[in-house]
Amino acid sequence: MGTKVLGIAGSLRKGSYNKLALRAAIELKPAGMDIESFDIAPIPPFNDDVREQGYPPVVQELREKVRAADALLIVTPEYNYSVPGVLKNAIDWVSRPPSQPFDDKPAAIMGASTGRLGTTRAQYHLRQVAVFVNMHVLNRPEVMISGAANAFDASGRLVDEGARKLIAELLVNLADWTARLKRG
Ligand SMILES: Cc1cc2nc3c(=O)[nH]c(=O)nc-3n(C[C@H](O)[C@H](O)[C@H](O)COP(=O)(O)O)c2cc1C
Repeated sequence: MGTKVLGIAGSLRKGSYNKLALRAAIELKPAGMDIESFDIAPIPPFNDDVREQGYPPVVQELREKVRAADALLIVTPEYNYSVPGVLKNAIDWVSRPPSQPFDDKPAAIMGASTGRLGTTRAQYHLRQVAVFVNMHVLNRPEVMISGAANAFDASGRLVDEGARKLIAELLVNLADWTARLKRG
């Protein structure tokens, strides 16, 4: 059986390196894995009053896609040493009841930044969030694409060979991790 992965990039920017990193993952995924990407741009700011009236359709769609996925691939930028608000906002919407969609979900994290640490600090904040929503995030390999401006070519292709290898390894591990968790 294949692995159905939902990919979420935490940047709204058209030329986003993290969107390009997700595109690279789609290119590098192992046989039997399917990665669908979800655009979080239309998600409104979280408001619990709105939620009490019913989830907005785009949020409901994301919640259902998270629930239906075998695993998640979250590609996070780093903003001020943390996860961008737009990504945290999307996670906050999805994390509310009923039947909290992140619960027990296998996940992998990666990220690209123009800085030297390649989203290290944001990824560790994201792992902390994952603890509370009970996502099971893979530990290895850590894919932290630093100096992103030089890691992609003019056509948007990831040309950092080390990063390409790590992404391929991460996705193989994610397929294995998902199968192991499913077996229980
Ligand atoms: C508000 C803001 C804060 C940022 N903070 C960091 C940071 O803490 N660490 C870092 O490496 N880069 C930081 N950057 C630079 C981002 O790595 C860079 O803008 C990157 O291109 C964002 O990802 P994207 O290309 O997917 O949009 C920041 C950028 C913005 C706009």
